[in-house]
Amino acid sequence: MKYELASTTWDNAEREAIARVVDSDMFTMGKNVLAFEEAFASYFGKKYAVMVNSGSSANLVAVASLFFRKENPLKAGDEVIVPCISWATTFHPLQQYGLKLRFVDVNLETLNYDIDKLKDAITPNTKMIVTVSILGNPCEFDEIEKLCNEKGIILFDDNCESMGAKIGGKFTGTRGLVNTFSTFFSHHISTMEGGLVLTDDKELYNLLKAMRNHGWTRGQDADSPIFDKKDDDFFEAYRFILPGYNVRPGELHGAIGLEQMKKLPHLIEARRKNAEYFVSLFKDDKRFIIQKECGESSWFCFTMIVRPELQLERKDVLVKLKNAGIEHRIITGGCFLKHDVIKYYDHTVHSRANADLAHDRGWFVGNHPYDIRKEIDYLHKTLEAF
Ligand SMILES: Cc1ncc(COP(=O)(O)O)c(C=O)c1O
Repeated sequence: MKYELASTTWDNAEREAIARVVDSDMFTMGKNVLAFEEAFASYFGKKYAVMVNSGSSANLVAVASLFFRKENPLKAGDEVIVPCISWATTFHPLQQYGLKLRFVDVNLETLNYDIDKLKDAITPNTKMIVTVSILGNPCEFDEIEKLCNEKGIILFDDNCESMGAKIGGKFTGTRGLVNTFSTFFSHHISTMEGGLVLTDDKELYNLLKAMRNHGWTRGQDADSPIFDKKDDDFFEAYRFILPGYNVRPGELHGAIGLEQMKKLPHLIEARRKNAEYFVSLFKDDKRFIIQKECGESSWFCFTMIVRPELQLERKDVLVKLKNAGIEHRIITGGCFLKHDVIKYYDHTVHSRANADLAHDRGWFVGNHPYDIRKEIDYLHKTLEAF
């Protein structure tokens, strides 16, 4: 038996959407991307969505845009709190814009911020907190949002791993001033490559649109607060107002996204059913710590950590999984502080012990948007050897 990490969420609906774009002969960003953005924003109850070519680009343009707000912009040297565990491109744009990162440990069970440590890590210089709900499991947003509001700290939610998750009756990826999503292949919905930013802030919406598109004015709202349109149409056609990028998606991505949105609720439901089964088999297992759900997880994957007090070696478990054809990976890249690239970062470490443990003793196996109880049984049986 093979137990894979990820699987396709496409069927004929996506193939037909691709064919419609091909037949239209219009491939560059246009009406399909706009329609997908509108459907996405409306589903998550936000005013604006901006689609880009990846979740990493969503983080990049979101960070960049915060530097160009009229009020309270980010500035190089500002302190930003980040969790020790996240994907590399949560962090890279922060480094590229000269921010000072302050790393805070995770809770070993939820794998998200340890709230007490997060509170303790805040300094008078903290300008922004980046939240990352790891592998579908919501951060404790009620507390974090309150904390940010009380202290005037910007909340930036990198929700690239947790589309469709909820806490306190609200979707993750909706509480931040900016909120980012990935629609890469293995994620909850897939547009092959793709990402989005959600915000309710009109100024940021227009900044994001300029940032993804050469930093020019084309595509700005008629009443965009970030520039004054002049009468000279010749000059306005190629007018640059921001040091932007070209990270636009194409029409194929937008058209596929529209089809995927229709499936999202049922894709999440199937993942949650599998999770119920996984948890029932492993919750009382004395060998492994599995991820403790906070709110309603969208269960990207299933994490396991060999309990720190046991002699059991992770490497022996991983050999067994490999030989059994059960694909697995380190949990979201593990503790970022352990990667070579950290030498380029201006950073301080508030706390890291649990992130190190997850890095050294943890892994995840796949979840899928269809019934995988057989695969979960197979995993359970394979691990009986220990
Ligand atoms: C937390 C987080 N942020 C950002 C990204 C980047 O998304 P993408 O792969 O679409 O660039 C990922 C990728 O999985 C991620 O897990």
